[in-house]
Amino acid sequence: MPISYNSDLRVFRLDTPRTTYLMGLAGKENFLGHIYYGPSVPNDGLCELLRLDERPFTPGEVPGERASFYDAFPFEYPAWGGGNFREPCLRVIDAMGGGNCELFYESHRILPGKPPLEGLPAAFGTEDACSSLEIVCLDPVLGLRVHLLYTVFDDVDAICRSVRIENGGTAPVELSAALSASLELDNRDFDLITLHGSWAREMEIDRRTLAFGKQEAFSLRGISSHQYHPFLALCEHSATQEQGSVYGISFVYSGNFLAQAELDQFNKVRAVMGIHPDGFSWHLEPGESFQAPETVLVCSNQGLGGMSRTFHDFFRGHLIRGQHQPRPVLLNSWEACYFDFDHDRLLELGREAAQNGIELLVVDDGWFSHRSDPTTSLGDWTVNEEKLPGGLKRLGDELAALGVKLGIWMEPEMISPDSDLYRAHPDYAMTIPGRAPTLARDQLVLDLTRQEVRDCVFEQIAAVLNSAPITYLKWDMNRPLIDVYSTSLPPQRQGEAAHRYVLGLYELQERLVSKFPDVLLENCCSGGGRFDPGMLYYSPQIWTSDNAEAIDRLVIQEGMSLIYPYSATGAHVAACPSHVNGRVTPFATRGRVSLPGCFGYELDLGKLSEEELALIPQQIQEYRQYAPVFHNGDCYRLASYRENHSYDAVMAVSKDKSLAVVNFVQVCSRAYRRSLRLPLAGLAKNVRYRERETGVIRSGAGWMEGGLLFEALQADFYSKLVALEQVD
Ligand code: DGJ
Repeated sequence: MPISYNSDLRVFRLDTPRTTYLMGLAGKENFLGHIYYGPSVPNDGLCELLRLDERPFTPGEVPGERASFYDAFPFEYPAWGGGNFREPCLRVIDAMGGGNCELFYESHRILPGKPPLEGLPAAFGTEDACSSLEIVCLDPVLGLRVHLLYTVFDDVDAICRSVRIENGGTAPVELSAALSASLELDNRDFDLITLHGSWAREMEIDRRTLAFGKQEAFSLRGISSHQYHPFLALCEHSATQEQGSVYGISFVYSGNFLAQAELDQFNKVRAVMGIHPDGFSWHLEPGESFQAPETVLVCSNQGLGGMSRTFHDFFRGHLIRGQHQPRPVLLNSWEACYFDFDHDRLLELGREAAQNGIELLVVDDGWFSHRSDPTTSLGDWTVNEEKLPGGLKRLGDELAALGVKLGIWMEPEMISPDSDLYRAHPDYAMTIPGRAPTLARDQLVLDLTRQEVRDCVFEQIAAVLNSAPITYLKWDMNRPLIDVYSTSLPPQRQGEAAHRYVLGLYELQERLVSKFPDVLLENCCSGGGRFDPGMLYYSPQIWTSDNAEAIDRLVIQEGMSLIYPYSATGAHVAACPSHVNGRVTPFATRGRVSLPGCFGYELDLGKLSEEELALIPQQIQEYRQYAPVFHNGDCYRLASYRENHSYDAVMAVSKDKSLAVVNFVQVCSRAYRRSLRLPLAGLAKNVRYRERETGVIRSGAGWMEGGLLFEALQADFYSKLVALEQVD
C-alpha cells in the first residue's frame, strides 16, 4: 500500500519506490504535523519523531503555553495565527478584518489515481500507477476547509502536493497568501541551491550555506522569470553529484512565485513554495474554492544527480504531454535574417535547409501585418502579403515540395499600441486607469483574464494555423507584467489579476494543444523567462535562452539539467561571432553543445565555409543517433566548466544500459595539464562496453573507476563525443 493511515498511531504514510513521507496528528485538537521525509524506513517507531514528548505540549494539554507550541510545531500546512511566526502557507482575512487562522485535521480519504486540478497544469498518472491522499483540515471559527492533496507514483520517487481552500463558512473571506506546500526538516548542515540569472544568462546554479533567517528565490514579474527559478533544493553540505542527501521542490506554475527556506531558532528548516503573496489576494464567497498550483517533491540520497534523474523521469513520464518524438531538426530565421526577409529569402533558406538534411524551417518574428521591427503590429496576426505574396500557404507548399516543413513564430499574449487590434480595442491591454501604460519592447500585455480577449487571440491563432501547412508553433512572450490590472475585476479583487492572467494563458494553450495536437508547440519567453513545469505541460520543449553561444550555453544547460530533461530544451547552433557575446567558437563544438537538446540551426547557412557546411550532415546524424539517449536515458554531470573553469562533460546512459554517450568540451586549455581521466557513471558494472571510435573494450566498472582518457590538448573550445556500446 503506497498510502496508508495507522489509526492507532494516528500517522499517515506515503511510500514511493525508495522514499517514505510521514505525517501525524497531535493532541486532542488533531494538529497535522510533519514527521519524516527521506529514504524508505520500516513501519515502526517513527511517530515518536513528532516529538510530542518534548515541551511544549499541545495547547489542549497546557493552555498557558499555546504560543510556544505554535512557535515550534512542524505544521504540515502552516497558517498565520496562534503564534506561528515563521512563513505561513495560508493567510486569511475574515469578514471582520481579523487575520488569524487555525487548522485542525477533520477527515481524509485515499483514492486510486490522481484527480486533475481545475484550470491548472498538473502531473497525471493512471489509477494503476499512482494513488492519492486527500487530508481535509478545518478552521472551525471560519468554516474554512483546506484540502491537502498528495500523490505518489509506482515508478518514480516523487511526491506531488497541491492545496484547495474552500470557504465552507457563512461569511466571505480574503486569502492574502495561499502557498502550495511547506516542508519541515531538521537541519542537516544544509546548503541551499537556487537558480538565478538574467536575460541570456538563465539558470545559473547558486549553492550556499543555509543561514539563519529566510532565504528565497522569487518572481513578481508575472512570469516565472529569467532572474530566479520556481525551484529550490536543500542538500547536505557534503553532498556531491552522486552522493549525499538532497531535497528538491519544483513548482508547476508560470507566474509570480515564492521559493523560500528558513532556518529557525531551533535549527529546523521550513521550506515553502507557492504563488508569491506580494500583491496577491483572492476573495472567497461562502461555497467558493481556490485551487493552488502543484508542487513536486523529490528526495534523493544519490546526490544532485539522483535528484535530477528523478525529476527528469517524473517530468517525462507524468507531466509533459505530446512528446512529438523524434523532434525535427530545424532552421530558425531569427539570427539568420531577423526582420529582413521576404518569400524568396525564406525559400532560399528552405533550399539550403533541404540540401543539408534539415527538416523544418521556422519563420520567426516579422511575417505578419507591417512588422519589420519590434515597434509594431503585435495583435494583428494576418500575413504581410508584401513580404510573403501568396501568404504562408504558398510558402508552406513550396517548402513542402523541397521536403521541408513550415513552422512559425507568434507572440499571442501581446498587443502593440501601433496595431489595428489596439486601435479597435485599447481596453484589451492591461493598463492601470489614470496612468500612462508602461511599455516594454514597445508593447503591452493583453488582458488574458478576460474571456473575449482570449477568444480573440485564439481565433486568430486558429485562423493562421488553418491557413497553411504549419507543423510547429513557437509561442513567444517578450516582456514582464507591470501594469497588472483587469477591467473585468472590481477594485477590491485586483489582487487576483496576476494569477487570473496565468490561468487565462493556461486555458489558451490548452485550447491550442487540444485543437491542434499535431502542431509541435515550443514555448519561449525572450529565451528562458518562462522555462518552468507549468509551460512544459503544454509544450514538450522550450527555447532555453536567447544565448545560444556554446560556452555560455554549457552553464545554462547545466542549470537546466538540474531539474529538466534535455528533451525539454531547445538548443541551436548559432551564428559566429556570437550575436550575444561576440565569442568565436568552432562549428563542431557548437554542434556538440546543442546535440543533447532539441537540435537546430539559427544562422545564415549561406555564410558558412565549405568545411562547416560539410559538418552539418555529420552533426545531424550524431544527433539522430545519440540525442535519444540524452532525451530518454539517465543523465550524469561528470564535470562542470562553471566550477573547474576548464572543461565540461555530460553523460547519458540508455535505460537498458546498452548505450552510453559522453559529451566533452574543453573550454580553456591548461598549461602542463597532461591527460585527463574522467570517471564515467551509470554503466552496468559487469557488462563490457566498447568505445565505438577506438574499439577499446572494458567492463562498466573499468570505465567508471578507471575513467575515460582525454589526451592533453592545447586547444580552447575543443569538443569530443564518445559513444560506448554494450559488447555482448
Ligand atoms: C525573443 C526570442 O527569444 C527570440 O528567439 C526571437 O524569437 C525574438 N524574440 C523575436 O522577436
